[in-house]
Amino acid sequence: MPSLPDLAGRTVAVSGVGSAFGVAIAEAFRAQGASVFGCDLDPAAFPVLQAAGIDCAAVDLRYRAAAADWIEAVVRAAGGIEILVNNAGGVVGQQHQPFETLTDADWDIVLDINLNAAMVLSRAATRHMAAAGSGAIVNICSGASLRASLTGIQAYCAAKHALLGLTRQLAHELGPQGIRVNAIAPGLVLTGEATRRQWDAYGPGGQADILAGVAMRRLGRAEDIARAALFLASDWAGFVTGQILSVDGGIR
Ligand SMILES: NC(=O)c1ccc[n+]([C@@H]2O[C@H](COP(=O)([O-])OP(=O)(O)OC[C@H]3O[C@@H](n4cnc5c(N)ncnc54)[C@H](O)[C@@H]3O)[C@@H](O)[C@H]2O)c1
Repeated sequence: MPSLPDLAGRTVAVSGVGSAFGVAIAEAFRAQGASVFGCDLDPAAFPVLQAAGIDCAAVDLRYRAAAADWIEAVVRAAGGIEILVNNAGGVVGQQHQPFETLTDADWDIVLDINLNAAMVLSRAATRHMAAAGSGAIVNICSGASLRASLTGIQAYCAAKHALLGLTRQLAHELGPQGIRVNAIAPGLVLTGEATRRQWDAYGPGGQADILAGVAMRRLGRAEDIARAALFLASDWAGFVTGQILSVDGGIR
């Protein structure tokens, strides 16, 4: 039986490391003794992360070459890559708008960050994982991977559904090479301006209805998501692949 979660010395790459989930995930792996590398477009959180021993790189994941180059830089620095957490994503400042007024640019950027970036980073990382004969990928999906999104943003729901599809497909393709691919579906966590605006828009009645539909009667916390990522990346999940783990307090 491996020790929990047996992550000491492993090399972990976390995209979107500047977000609330990214910080919590990076710090959780670091606390387990992993060697952690993060990237984000926004460097605001880098000083705090660097003080915790986390390597940070400013990368715009809309550019596929830059995304793949970051994985190569991680491998050069660490000698390999064992774990990739595709966390970058979100609604990039968007709110629901009627489908007929949706612009191509608004659609594309949400797909680029939530889906295409995960594809490019996974493709770059799995080349090295396959050569090593093992690896784990954790994709931060959403309840919007499983049902319509509370955000109302069409591209977000489509991208998160597609990310779950990629998770399942890669699990089958890469399993024989010792690479596991899983997903997490977080419930609503008030991580920043976008989620706070979304929560405020429900008003007191809507908020009470949402909480009444959650078995644990609370919203999620970034640590809830980080702990699930540790589990799925660790040897304790060594026979788990192609799965989506809802971390949402039990939504009805
Ligand atoms: N907060 C929630 O309630 C919730 C629920 C379900 C899923 N999620 C998912 O969790 C993940 C993290 O969400 P969060 O709430 O912590 O914050 P968030 O949605 O703001 O995180 C997005 C992160 O990605 C980064 N990013 C955006 N565009 C980028 C680009 N072009 N290149 C590199 N990085 C870029 C941002 O700077 C930010 O740090 C996202 O994938 C989000 O979709 C969040």
